[in-house]
Amino acid sequence: MSESIQLFVPGRLCLFGEHSDWAGLHRVFNASIAPGAAIVTGIEQGIYANAVKSEKFVMRNTSEELKEIWKDFEADMNTESLRNIAAKNEYFSYVAGVASYLNEHHNVGGIEITITKMTLPVKSGLSSSAAICVLVARAFNLLYELNLNTTGEMAAAYRGERKTSSRCGRLDQACAFGTSPVLMTFDGEDINVKRLVVKEPLHWVIANLKAQKDTIKILSDLNKCYPFAETETEKNLHDALGADNQKIIDKAVCFIKEGDAKALGALMTEAQNLFDTKVAPISIEQLKAPKLHQFLNDDKVKALTYGGKGVGSQGDGTVQFLAKDSQTQKDLVNYLSKELEAYSFTIPKRHQVRKAVIPVAGFGTRLYPATRMMRKEFIPLIDKDNLLKPVILILLEELYNSGIEEICLITGSEEEVELYKKVLLQPLSHEHYAKLDKEAKKYEEKINKISKRLKFCIQKEKLGFGHAVYQSNDFSNDEPVLLLLGDTVYYSNTEKSCAVQLIEAYERVNKPIVSICEVSISETANFGIISGNWTDDPNLLKVTHFLEKPAPEYVKKNLPNYYSVFGQYIITPQIYKELYKNIKNENTSNGEYQLTDVLASMIDTGLYAYKTDGKMFDIGNVEAYKKAVNGNFN
Ligand code: UTP
Repeated sequence: MSESIQLFVPGRLCLFGEHSDWAGLHRVFNASIAPGAAIVTGIEQGIYANAVKSEKFVMRNTSEELKEIWKDFEADMNTESLRNIAAKNEYFSYVAGVASYLNEHHNVGGIEITITKMTLPVKSGLSSSAAICVLVARAFNLLYELNLNTTGEMAAAYRGERKTSSRCGRLDQACAFGTSPVLMTFDGEDINVKRLVVKEPLHWVIANLKAQKDTIKILSDLNKCYPFAETETEKNLHDALGADNQKIIDKAVCFIKEGDAKALGALMTEAQNLFDTKVAPISIEQLKAPKLHQFLNDDKVKALTYGGKGVGSQGDGTVQFLAKDSQTQKDLVNYLSKELEAYSFTIPKRHQVRKAVIPVAGFGTRLYPATRMMRKEFIPLIDKDNLLKPVILILLEELYNSGIEEICLITGSEEEVELYKKVLLQPLSHEHYAKLDKEAKKYEEKINKISKRLKFCIQKEKLGFGHAVYQSNDFSNDEPVLLLLGDTVYYSNTEKSCAVQLIEAYERVNKPIVSICEVSISETANFGIISGNWTDDPNLLKVTHFLEKPAPEYVKKNLPNYYSVFGQYIITPQIYKELYKNIKNENTSNGEYQLTDVLASMIDTGLYAYKTDGKMFDIGNVEAYKKAVNGNFN
């Protein structure tokens, strides 16, 4: 039996911009239609499953929730026969569609998926069909190591579902992005997905109105007005799903980023009014939605919420509200549950930077002979919680606690990847686990959770720090990335970790940014040194000089102020592009590709530095390691 993997895929909810997905597709025929835009989020409810490789394509269920309607399904892993099942419009057509698509485009064998729990209400506008399709795509992706990113999984799920008679929307598969909201734009056949920053948690409530609606009729009425608007009413519809929608989406992105729940709730009400005025008249029987409006106008509901609106194709299907806080969220669910099926979910706070990179490919010459026998990053320190931890674990913990979702270790070889997998991903033997006390067992669980976020890449030739960083270009996938050194640990003086301090500063400037700290003039020749002009933020510096290890005399004479780099950076797609240029043109400093060179070249377009409230401890040389061990670190 192959390794078993655990999966969870949530349902999804469109917060703003419903119908603009298919409207944007009509740009293929009429360029004057505005692109579509929607904000979609995964919710807390979803499908839980485990999966293993198998000869055939098998779907089983052990969940209580699906017991009544489920019959186990088994099919040969053959594109043609799976396609036929997809076309039949049966219970398993969707998943067969996805399996046929993956079998056709990738080298995969069969899988057996067992649904273990289902907390997602079916047929409630929360897209349970897209969730199961994403789940199947993800199971193939992980078991057969297809290396699809989230967008790839989403595309496979969409293509698979489109092989059936289902006409799923193009925003349904956003559930692949988990429980974080994304901005999707629809320009002809192109879809773009961008994760959103959420400054404060948002307390949502959804309720099934338990009334009638006919989605097919709504879609067919609205689609008749495309691609060319002929009457005033049709023109209104184009405006509502085009320019008017774009304005609402732009505001929503801002309010979510700024954590302004009150303004966001008011915007939901504004979006519903726009829908009622300009969209509903086209399919008035379906969209006048008396039950939806009864609840939107209910005084008790209004007192508990900042605003509300319909869901999905709208009509009397499902309603969504933004509650004022976690208590009113509970009160609202209780109140609505008297008559409806109500659920709550909270959109968690979310930073713009969600990926981190740690290069660990260096040999660690300065710590020989220790590094003859162990990786430099495995050297231990006593942490704040009094546990003796390898440096890498202290770093990974800081990233985990800072909300980083994916961490890439840049290692030196395939063997090193295997070593990391062995020490971090392989569970402890039963015998050893049994020996741990309660606290240690808890920490072991934490290691398991942290390890799930790990990815690896390899720096085959040791051509310098910048070269090592560049190896994570594919991993970064055009997102900003937090970069830490593999041989430095960070100690924050505040509640916020050093990493979070830097991430929040980045969110204010949206430019590459480097953490800095005070350094004595006699030590400037040992570090990267930054100088610049302070901004309105007392800890934020606009960089004017970035020099590698300048002599104290030079610093005194030429720089207005001087700070040492702290070993944490946020690097942007532009930095990866510049690193690539240097590597392609063999543009080195002393034979190595340096990140400092690229950062210094960013000064003209905007490079910032943040004075972190914390300390850093380099453990890469004996003197510095001594300082960290001698009680300074914790
Ligand atoms: P160092 O400059 O300390 O280099 O790297 P090193 O090779 O580890 O140590 P010495 O100088 O030989 O004693 C800083 C960080 O960058 C990584 C290292 O693993 C360390 O985390 N690094 C450096 C790479 O991943 N690849 C490189 O080519 C260079």
